[in-house]
Amino acid sequence: MKNKISIIGAGQTGATTAHWLAAMEIADLVLVDIVEGMPQGKALDLLEAMPVIGSDVYVTGSNDYDATENSDIVVITAGLPRKPGMSRDDLLFANADIIRKATEETVRRSPEAIFIILTNPLDAMTYLTMKVGNLKPEKVIGQAGILDSTRMRAFVAMELGVSVENVHCYVLGGHGDDMVPLTRHSNVAGVPLNKILPPDRLEAIVNRTRQGGGEIVKLLKTGSAFYAPAAAIAQMAEAILKDKHLVVPAAAYLNGEYGLKGIYFGVPVQLGRSGVEKIIEYDLNPEEQEMLEKSAESVSSLIEKL
Ligand code: APR
Repeated sequence: MKNKISIIGAGQTGATTAHWLAAMEIADLVLVDIVEGMPQGKALDLLEAMPVIGSDVYVTGSNDYDATENSDIVVITAGLPRKPGMSRDDLLFANADIIRKATEETVRRSPEAIFIILTNPLDAMTYLTMKVGNLKPEKVIGQAGILDSTRMRAFVAMELGVSVENVHCYVLGGHGDDMVPLTRHSNVAGVPLNKILPPDRLEAIVNRTRQGGGEIVKLLKTGSAFYAPAAAIAQMAEAILKDKHLVVPAAAYLNGEYGLKGIYFGVPVQLGRSGVEKIIEYDLNPEEQEMLEKSAESVSSLIEKL
């Protein structure tokens, strides 16, 4: 039987996720949105591209959650995006209502699905999905770490003129301005970044990574990034459906790991068919641990507000 992925929110990120996923030929796709006709139109357009790219996937769009029944993966991107001058946290209450509804409607129809959440503020919205859906923590994962890390990888590759494939970066912590790019653990073909780049260049890359989302919001003026976030979701979905046991940074529920408990937070996780199979704990120095704890405080305060 073919796999099925439902994407709630067929806006910029939802539709682009469908685009990346359709090319991977790993699942039939369903787009759901509140805007009438829009998910149907985008789905039909994408479906009509399949003969050109040679991918036998079926893509449908709907305004009705019944279309999501028996999904293997549910991706939630529904929500309001950031406008210039807004932080991700400013979206908390408006997006919480949207997430509650999307979770209730989809869990009822796909109780076995793995959930991948994108809506901001990411860590708090992922926590909310787990709670509202009464889901096992390992079945709910937030997409943020792959995005933050791929931004850093792109900046390092540009700086050094090496292939993006040689650059491995690990950005942990909450998906906010105090995220924690780990420069000691990040490397180019095995050589740690802090041994290759001078401190001022490394600091500039770390800062640009932290502000990476805001940089794009400022340029776009009417929305936030979507190509890279969507590519990151697609990588997570592929790792799950193919049971790859792939280690990526993502928001996972912590139960004592890194000295933190009861929050969703960006850490390296191993993804497979059952969702989060394992949380990997890096050996952090006191400075890195302190940055992580500061970031965790920001996430905890949002969860408390909810
Ligand atoms: N149910 C279904 N879809 C909804 C709902 C709802 N209750 N409310 C809003 N949507 C849809 C919108 O109609 C829109 O098509 O969610 C979609 C969001 O798409 P965009 O506005 O294009 O936003 P996008 O850039 O995709 O970002 C979505 O991800 O990165 C985060 O902060 C960002 O929270 C935002 C989310």
